[in-house]
Amino acid sequence: MPQTVKAVVAMSKGAPVELVDIVVPDPGPGEAVVQVQACGVCHTDLHYREGGINDEFPFLLGHEAAGVVEAVGDGVTDVAPGDFVVLNWRAVCGECRACKRGDLKYCFATHNATQKMTLASGDQAGTELSPALGIGAFAEKTLVAAGQCTKVDPDARPAAAGLLGCGVMAGIGAAINTGEATRGKSVAVIGCGGVGVAAVAGAALAGASPVIAVDIDPKKLEAASRMGATHTVDSSKVDPIEAIKEICGAVYEGAEGADVVVEAVGRPETWKQAFYARDLAGTVVLVGVPTPDMKVPDLPLIDVFGRGGALKSSWYGDCLPSRDFPMLVDLYRQGRLDLDAFVSEEIGIGDVEAAFEKMHHGDVLRSVVVL
Ligand SMILES: NC(=O)c1ccc[n+]([C@@H]2O[C@H](COP(=O)([O-])OP(=O)(O)OC[C@H]3O[C@@H](n4cnc5c(N)ncnc54)[C@H](O)[C@@H]3O)[C@@H](O)[C@H]2O)c1
Ligand SMILES: [Zn+2]
Ligand SMILES: [Zn+2]
Repeated sequence: MPQTVKAVVAMSKGAPVELVDIVVPDPGPGEAVVQVQACGVCHTDLHYREGGINDEFPFLLGHEAAGVVEAVGDGVTDVAPGDFVVLNWRAVCGECRACKRGDLKYCFATHNATQKMTLASGDQAGTELSPALGIGAFAEKTLVAAGQCTKVDPDARPAAAGLLGCGVMAGIGAAINTGEATRGKSVAVIGCGGVGVAAVAGAALAGASPVIAVDIDPKKLEAASRMGATHTVDSSKVDPIEAIKEICGAVYEGAEGADVVVEAVGRPETWKQAFYARDLAGTVVLVGVPTPDMKVPDLPLIDVFGRGGALKSSWYGDCLPSRDFPMLVDLYRQGRLDLDAFVSEEIGIGDVEAAFEKMHHGDVLRSVVVL
């Protein structure tokens, strides 16, 4: 029987989100219904609400979630009712060109549920919802492709483990997988929200040093220090390019910047800072999501050529959920990765709009809806 549950929906561009009833179908072949226990509020949810991703309103928001599988459809063998899972937005297809050549992290045809969840009541009853990143987990229950459910240690706290489902994985992976941060390399991270601080934590976990955190908000820099930053730079006060060069030059003679610079804001001016703050032959990793209108002005092509190295973007930290989620939960359980530190507050399902407001004011790394 299809179920009616409470969920947070962005009905139209820029309008405050609403708590409404939605209909969740029974899982069809290859699908699973998950009882959501926790879901973090990511900046990408706000991008959706503001129409910065696309115009397919209404959006069912929320995509950093952990929960328990309630039911599975025909043919599902990897997960079963009762499993504790973190939801992912990279259920690889195994069939596309990227998968076939072994580059699963670039899968071009990741799976989502085939059936649609719909609005339950009001004049728009029956309208199909677009779940954020194919997940839609600011909801008591959600319908996903079974491959979007990654089993992890059930002793992990849902509010912390769920964050691996997007921002924390994106940040850690941007540093470790995309940027290849490791011992002997310097890393700078520009923008230290949930994603950027996770990149700091990832760089520290990988043994990189120095690990330089850059933000315009001192509260974020404090959080980054607690998560392993060796240096902090308040870029509202000093030029971050010069500061990064100086810090790296003091550790590695002749260094003209950081080996890896992660941009976790998603703006042209901060990407440009990253570009010029990296050492020759270094790597810039763009993990922040720009809006479609943004352009990088006045970047001489000779600088792109002359400085060498790599300019990369990082979707989801180039992660493979089945490999990375259980590993990171294991490090968390061992006390080597403090996922709890990302949970600034636990909130109710009706508090998402207020959480967006707090995000704007820089008050939180992550507000997490707990159900
Ligand atoms: N690539 C991916 O797979 C992926 C996944 C999740 C989120 N994201 C994106 O990552 C970005 C960060 O997400 P978040 O949830 O951490 O957001 P957030 O709002 O929590 O953090 C953004 C941080 O950037 C800082 N900032 C803003 N302007 C700055 C400037 N000019 N210089 C330095 N710092 C500045 C803010 O103070 C804040 O600390 C967003 O664009 C989000 O959409 C990408
Ligand atoms: Zn594929
Ligand atoms: Zn996200």
